[in-house]
Amino acid sequence: MPGLFDPIELGAIKAPNRILMAPMTRARGTKAHVPTPMMEQYYRDRASAGLIISEAVGITQQGLGWPYATGLWTHEQIAGWRRITDAVHEAGGRIIVQLWHMGRAVHPSFLDGERPVSASATTAPDHAHTYDGRQPYEEARHLHADEIPVILADFHRGALNAIEAGFDGAQIHAANGYLIDQFLRDSANLRDDEYGGSTRNRIRLLKEATQAVADAIGADRTGVRLSPNGETQGVSDSDPLPLFAEALETLSEIGIAHLELREPPIDGTFGIGEVDPLAAQLRPYFKGPLILNSDFTPERAEAEIAAGVGDAVAFGRPFIANPDLPYRIREHLPIATDDASTWFTQASEGYNSYPAAI
Ligand SMILES: Cc1cc2nc3c(=O)[nH]c(=O)nc-3n(C[C@H](O)[C@H](O)[C@H](O)COP(=O)(O)O)c2cc1C
Repeated sequence: MPGLFDPIELGAIKAPNRILMAPMTRARGTKAHVPTPMMEQYYRDRASAGLIISEAVGITQQGLGWPYATGLWTHEQIAGWRRITDAVHEAGGRIIVQLWHMGRAVHPSFLDGERPVSASATTAPDHAHTYDGRQPYEEARHLHADEIPVILADFHRGALNAIEAGFDGAQIHAANGYLIDQFLRDSANLRDDEYGGSTRNRIRLLKEATQAVADAIGADRTGVRLSPNGETQGVSDSDPLPLFAEALETLSEIGIAHLELREPPIDGTFGIGEVDPLAAQLRPYFKGPLILNSDFTPERAEAEIAAGVGDAVAFGRPFIANPDLPYRIREHLPIATDDASTWFTQASEGYNSYPAAI
């Protein structure tokens, strides 16, 4: 029976333990979306994770609408990330990038006033983070089918740039109500062409983007993150189980290195799942390593790995306040709590201020 401290192969990446760091946007880049030096220490300090999945990183300006988040489309951005991946590798760690296109969740203020793009002309609920505070989202423009090759090329180039930046691989952000999720789930996809309607059609962008990244860097360095249960940022599905079962079969055929499911439990503290996590029901449809996430304690992680629900667990907030989380779990030391008010500030406080246990 595998445990949290057994090694695991995630495609080409050999993780020495199954305590992975979940992707977390921390807004410590510049306005030009370039990584800053303080990010080198942050990621280096977390190198004992079995694998670090980076914060979401924009593949283009069209797809990036988060203040001070970073990108991977300019030489400066690639060079900035190179310093971070070098720091992680020197500390003995492994790091992949999470490739991000936010779709309708990009506010026009990031796009010189242009409208964001999505599966259909819909509007995300609530308010966007912008450089001028929170502002209401605006209606997206429906992506024409002949524009989709451009999006695929952006994912392909983003993956190539990730390798140039020294990442060990890439995870496609297909979760949490962003562009690919806007195509997948029927609350946001109202199309009637080959990218809408049937589950097969709604999965098409996910399949093509995954193939584009796998063609660039190898399927054994390509992972995907999905959020099958409940609603995120106004994106949900009327019948998620068949949709995600088919998506998992499709990703299995491509032979990706890992699949991560971000599923808040019903009593979740980062998003509330209106339905229980679907991981146990979806597991049979995916042949590769399955990573579980959201609200895991070390005990629940051990139990679900032992029960075969998943193969590894990604911890988010626990890694913010505990850079040496695997050590603390192994030694049964107290796990510190993070301060949510410093998640997205540009300060070192709440970022590089959490000490290791020893
Ligand atoms: C500050 C913060 C930023 C996050 N940014 C991202 C992100 O960039 N990409 C993503 O897929 N999920 C993101 N998430 C969600 C986390 O990956 C994870 O799903 C969530 O924190 C629940 O896991 P936990 O209970 O272990 O913290 C973020 C969460 C937090 C707290």
